[in-house]
Amino acid sequence: GVATSAYQVEGGIENDWAEWERQGKLKEPHARCGIAVDHWRRYAEDYALAKAVGATAFRLSLEWARIEPVRGRFDGAALEGYRERLLQLRAQGLRPVVTLHHFTHPTWFHAATPWHLPESLEAFRQYVRRCAPLLEGLDALVISFNEPMVLLLGGYLQGLMPPGITDGAKTMAALGNMVRAHVIAREELGQHLGRVELGISQNMLAFAPDRWWHPLDRSLVRLAAPAYNHAFHEALSSGHLRVFMPGVASTDVRIEGARDSVEFVGVNYYTRAHLRFMPRPPFIDFKYRDPDGRGLTDIGWEQRPEGFLQLLQEVKRYGKPVWITENGIDDRKGTVRPEYLHAHLRQVLAAREAGVDVQGYLYWSLLDNFEWLEGWGPRFGLYHVDFD
Ligand code: BGC
Repeated sequence: GVATSAYQVEGGIENDWAEWERQGKLKEPHARCGIAVDHWRRYAEDYALAKAVGATAFRLSLEWARIEPVRGRFDGAALEGYRERLLQLRAQGLRPVVTLHHFTHPTWFHAATPWHLPESLEAFRQYVRRCAPLLEGLDALVISFNEPMVLLLGGYLQGLMPPGITDGAKTMAALGNMVRAHVIAREELGQHLGRVELGISQNMLAFAPDRWWHPLDRSLVRLAAPAYNHAFHEALSSGHLRVFMPGVASTDVRIEGARDSVEFVGVNYYTRAHLRFMPRPPFIDFKYRDPDGRGLTDIGWEQRPEGFLQLLQEVKRYGKPVWITENGIDDRKGTVRPEYLHAHLRQVLAAREAGVDVQGYLYWSLLDNFEWLEGWGPRFGLYHVDFD
């Protein structure tokens, strides 16, 4: 299948990210998402494009800001619009994979109910309650959160993404609440739909020490890999949320209802990061390197297909079916993607042979789209989009 997210493709969305853009906070300070790639209007054509590459599943996200633009006021036309699109997907023979939260928030969210406060939970519950009827009768796969660790690192620790906070304690409070919010999504969807196939999409990185011989770089990898790749998965499996990154952020709590709260494990895989210990806070520096000479991708990431197999083998421990909810490459000329895909799919097959129950693979992305901090430069699409 193929993957998309609302803000990156739909167009015409007013949310926290749109505000961030206007404040000039992207790496590309003048980039604006605007009409994105006009998918809200052209969705039927885009579904046909997905069919044409043989996809049988289509991942999209619901935009909270479209559904609840003003706190407590839900937009009936937006809800109907999503229902119509989901029914169309089904009619086209594409299984909907529906993300409830993919990085963005309504503009009121961070001031009123940010993730580090318990009020976020009730706000999310109200939102999910309105989303539940949209999923009725679709046999959809549902993802509560896309890449919570990326959102938390970017938005709460490094201040690069909305809400622009840089606070380890708030990061850990927000992390705990996102795990609780997943449990809430499960309750709300369960009440409305009975059985639901719910999981998360976890960004997973292969890690290596920047200096292979350096004990501190090596210890960093030993701490960061379980925290970044597994803390969220682990919490939804055992009910125990544990992050141990001394001097950065740590937490150790049991979350009620989180134990055994997914039907599948969602993995987003792109690359490997080399970690280097820095003598001053935040103590960690990371780089993408190209030790095997495959060439960095256009966005500057290492191509590391072997890491994919390793991480898929690691998630076997959760004893659930695995969905690859994203994998892909920014390849602006479109010359490297075939080999990238081939190499990565070979690793997926190897994982299956090694007994990992991989059920699905969703390529990121169907179309070139708005790439967050980088704006319109990167091209992850199977289809090239003429942005003009
Ligand atoms: C995100 C996508 C993003 C992609 C490429 C993932 O981190 O879920 O929204 O476009 O990777 O950076």
